[in-house]
Amino acid sequence: MSRQLDGGTAVCPGSYDPVTFGHLDIIARAAGVFDKLIVGVVNQPVRKRKTLFNAEERVSFLEGAVAEYGNVQVKPFDTLLVDFAREHGAKAIVKGLRAISDFEYEFEMNQLNRKMAPDIESIYLMAAPQFSFLSSSGVKELAMFGGDISGLVPDTVATRLQEHFKR
Ligand code: PNS
Repeated sequence: MSRQLDGGTAVCPGSYDPVTFGHLDIIARAAGVFDKLIVGVVNQPVRKRKTLFNAEERVSFLEGAVAEYGNVQVKPFDTLLVDFAREHGAKAIVKGLRAISDFEYEFEMNQLNRKMAPDIESIYLMAAPQFSFLSSSGVKELAMFGGDISGLVPDTVATRLQEHFKR
């Protein structure tokens, strides 16, 4: 075995539009495995619709939510993920996997990232059962129609979503 995957730095990338308790569960678990975890917030995801919150707001929601972890930093990025990982000396990319529907997209991303950076390993943490069907888009849809989003996202995010859709 030529590579050690314990310790070191990892990146945990995403759109986080907005961060949910599902994301935070993955971040907390990854922070327990790596010495340092950089949460990478993509400025504008290419394959998705325009984000509801700008990168600054998404970073700020995350910063509030991860403040309790001494080894987690949040940073926006607008480059290739593997370049962002290299810039921070990360040897791994950590992602969460929920239902089977995530697999195809993640599998493709994995192949592309591996082709560009075979030295950076991608690691997948399975979502905890209570978060298996929790998504940012589901939360936004609930909020849009006045549904209860408490227990799905941090309070600051819930308040901001409610304000947004009240307008
Ligand atoms: O939470 P998401 O929307 O699934 O996260 C998507 C993310 C940030 C992982 C993806 O959009 C990404 O990696 N963007 C940076 C550009 C890139 O490196 N794309 C992959 C290979 S072409």
